[in-house]
Amino acid sequence: MRIIIVSFAMIMMSFNSMADSQLKNLVDYKVNKQYPGAKLYADRGCVACHGDDANTPSQPQYPKLAGQNKDYIIAQINDIKNGLRNNGRSIVMRGTIIVDQNEIDKIAEWLSSLPIDIIEEQLNSDGAKLFQDKSCSICHGIDAKSPSLSVYPKLAGQNKIYSLAQMKDIKSGKRNSGNSATMQGLLYDVTTRDMAIIANWLESLTKDLM
Ligand code: HEC
Ligand code: HEC
Repeated sequence: MRIIIVSFAMIMMSFNSMADSQLKNLVDYKVNKQYPGAKLYADRGCVACHGDDANTPSQPQYPKLAGQNKDYIIAQINDIKNGLRNNGRSIVMRGTIIVDQNEIDKIAEWLSSLPIDIIEEQLNSDGAKLFQDKSCSICHGIDAKSPSLSVYPKLAGQNKIYSLAQMKDIKSGKRNSGNSATMQGLLYDVTTRDMAIIANWLESLTKDLM
């Protein structure tokens, strides 16, 4: 009996120590289908590739969506659906998009309400400096999660393989949909090595929760 009580207390303690809002919110959103967007996200099969918490994609080449800007999400789903965005692995998603505009709105509303919690110390690293030196922060924000426009993406915590592939595609013009052109011009003096350092840094901005 005593052992049970002690281990119960320990579980409660470790739970409390993790009791940052992010973990609680994610667990809450993950299981709680009362949110119309969360339910649609699950019912329409987005979970299969992007993870049931939208933060743990089935492959490291696939993007995390949790906490992304609503307007950016809507624009990207439509661009992928219409074939305007056809770089990278968009093709695997295109065929599965059986959502109408109203559903896209609800899913985007829910996804954008999820938190992105930054590890503050990472904002003083070399990656952070490069991100500012190369002007990325002007559009994406110094913390990579406060873009200057709502149709611009948040990048903090994103999978590095995914981010690197997108940067290369935008530089080469393979990804030229939406507002990609505004970024492309700035990449002339950004090398693949710079991109790799930045992609690593972006991923290191958040911690894995589960
Ligand atoms: C079969 C796998 C698959 C399914 C199912 C899927 N996606 Fe995707 N999705 C992807 C891949 C892969 C990409 C990235 C394409 C690339 O490499 O450029 C993507 C990209 C996205 C993006 C753009 C992300 C960004 O940062 O630019 C959004 C938003 C998105 N998906 C939302 C959804 C939603 C909502 C659903 C459900 C209606 C869904 N996806 C279903 C695989 C999938
Ligand atoms: C002038 C504004 C601007 C600047 C400067 C800029 N970006 Fe972007 N970036 C964008 C926009 C806009 C998009 C999305 C394009 C679209 O609409 O599809 C984007 C997309 C991205 C993506 C893909 C995000 C995703 O989820 O698919 C990455 C990664 C990225 N930028 C990294 C960078 C890095 C690194 C730098 C600096 C070297 C940089 N950006 C500089 C505007 C900018």
